[in-house]
Amino acid sequence: MARVIGSEAVEDARQRGRTVFEILPGDIVTEMARETAARIGIRLADGPIERPAPVRTDGTTAMRRVLYRRSARWAAPARTVQPRARRFSRLAIVGAGGVGGNIAHLAANADIAEEIVLIDIARGVAAAAALDLNHAAGITGAGARCLGSEDLGQVSGADAVVVTAGRARTPGMTRSDLMDANRRVIHAAAEAIRTQAPNAVVIVVTNPLDEMTAEMLRATGFPRERVLGMAGTLDSSRFRSALAAAAKVSPADVSAITLGSHGDEMAPILSLARIKGLPLSKFLSEDEIGACARDAVTGGGQVVALRRSGSATIAPAHATVEILDHVRGVRAGPVPVSVMLNGEYGVDGVVLGVPAHLGQTGLVRVEILNISETERTALRTAADAIRHRLSQ
Ligand code: LAC
Repeated sequence: MARVIGSEAVEDARQRGRTVFEILPGDIVTEMARETAARIGIRLADGPIERPAPVRTDGTTAMRRVLYRRSARWAAPARTVQPRARRFSRLAIVGAGGVGGNIAHLAANADIAEEIVLIDIARGVAAAAALDLNHAAGITGAGARCLGSEDLGQVSGADAVVVTAGRARTPGMTRSDLMDANRRVIHAAAEAIRTQAPNAVVIVVTNPLDEMTAEMLRATGFPRERVLGMAGTLDSSRFRSALAAAAKVSPADVSAITLGSHGDEMAPILSLARIKGLPLSKFLSEDEIGACARDAVTGGGQVVALRRSGSATIAPAHATVEILDHVRGVRAGPVPVSVMLNGEYGVDGVVLGVPAHLGQTGLVRVEILNISETERTALRTAADAIRHRLSQ
């Protein structure tokens, strides 16, 4: 549709800090607008102007846009002093199945660690994955040395341990159905970590996520800072992906997070979610927003139903590496992660997904967002459900 560009539009662009005003084919530019542009130093450029690639969205960028109410195009200003990124000296991954294998793959390619140790009790599985990764290094140039083992003792000396081991769901199962089987796996891993890697930051991926993170915390006796559960980065990514598809925009234009449990009591935070910097209702109907929130909650189950055996592997791996990157200092800002709460959000003594700042020693602090009363209640309901399941 042809626009009439008047001097107010040019003034407005100037107030927004622009120096160039894009004139699209068919636009009518008033004489006044041309004079104003010349006077205030705005260049009228024939469009469409080629846009830079969309900014990358991740849990932190999404959350910072939410916190500071920036538009979806906002990207953190370049730092003059880069945060000192750490390479882990030894990253151990317990469980070399689809999720563990993909984490190792991403971690090797991103040069996250000097050594990546994959551990799996299934004969040869971890060794095969490690060898396969080392074979790729001739092409990728990845510097990490990958090792595979069947021995949990190989967590020895790791500064970060990711635990993905355990049974995955089959169609029709909820994550909580895995509680008994995976509790034993977590306890075995915890014992090895406690004795062999007493200073490690542990990231739990095994389901049911919040409950298994609580078990890991209890069994290692580590402080809450060093036991984190990966769920919120994954669920938030699913939520943003659903919103982007529904609104027909790039995922980079969406900032949205989920908190609460990694299950039915997940809490997609609608009140703070934005598409291109605007509330969701500017782009989507209430039904459409509800469907996107449901997609975040059921996304993992949808993959399980399609695969028939085993869970998602790729998105969980990316979501885990996002957390590792926060721990080693290549990403800044809060990110959704499951941690033991000490009264934050009115929840005490339960592991729950909340926004948190991370660093080399794990949790630095929980970020308190200004969420709605309904969302606060959803967090407390999730906490009650997790507490109840753990007590059974
Ligand atoms: C999922 C599993 C990893 O949500 O819990 O895909």
